[in-house]
Amino acid sequence: MIHKITLYTTIAITAIALMTSCTTDPNSPGIEYMPDMYRSPAVEAYVDYGEDPFYVTEEVAAKQRNTMSVRKPVKGSIAFKGKDKGLGLPYAFLNTTEGYEKAGQELKSPLDITALNIEAGAANFELMCSHCHGLEGKGDGAISRNGHIMGIPDFSNKLKDLPEGKMYHTLMYGKGLMGSHASQISQKGLWQIIQYIQVLQNGGEMPTFDENGVALVTETVNNN
Ligand code: HEC
Repeated sequence: MIHKITLYTTIAITAIALMTSCTTDPNSPGIEYMPDMYRSPAVEAYVDYGEDPFYVTEEVAAKQRNTMSVRKPVKGSIAFKGKDKGLGLPYAFLNTTEGYEKAGQELKSPLDITALNIEAGAANFELMCSHCHGLEGKGDGAISRNGHIMGIPDFSNKLKDLPEGKMYHTLMYGKGLMGSHASQISQKGLWQIIQYIQVLQNGGEMPTFDENGVALVTETVNNN
């Protein structure tokens, strides 16, 4: 008798369990007795969690689906838009005479000319370049004055019309007695220094800025 009761109870519990796991909602997976077996608790990049509407309601799921899982780009990411666009890409011009000429024609600074950029460039120029080029870029830095390195050109004279692409090329690869500075200064830092050199090319005269601090005349040099 007892055996029979146990048997019927077991059958009844199993039947209830099986039946309650079915629902009429075609999107429902039914009751999951061991959800961990179906839903991996692993944390994966680019996945928004809890997005299954069955568990969190359609409203919450829609909200979660529209949030970015990874908000901050990792360090070293190359920006394709925004203010750092174009910085961080590998240098595209070859270390040849043709590469130098091509850079002069095609390579343009990704930075707006601003007072802040020029000031940052001037500070770096003083630290990294002035011992050869001189504080005002006349080619009369200490190393030039004591005769160790001769023939450093004056930016406001011989190099007055040197385009920014050629300057950048020289900073990347070096030229004559000047070594490469690519490993010492960031791309942004190099373009900032170039903005300062353009001021020196212009006899030290700063450009005029609009109300946002961006230079009004950006074409300070031609592309010879
Ligand atoms: C060791 C001394 C030395 C240092 C340091 C130096 N330069 Fe020069 N630089 C030279 C010499 C010499 C030349 C002339 C190269 C030639 O035409 O043969 C030159 C040329 C240049 C030119 C003209 C390049 C061209 O395409 O004709 C630019 C621009 C320039 N330097 C910028 C810089 C900047 C910016 C720095 C600092 C980040 C710097 N230099 C650091 C010695 C130096």
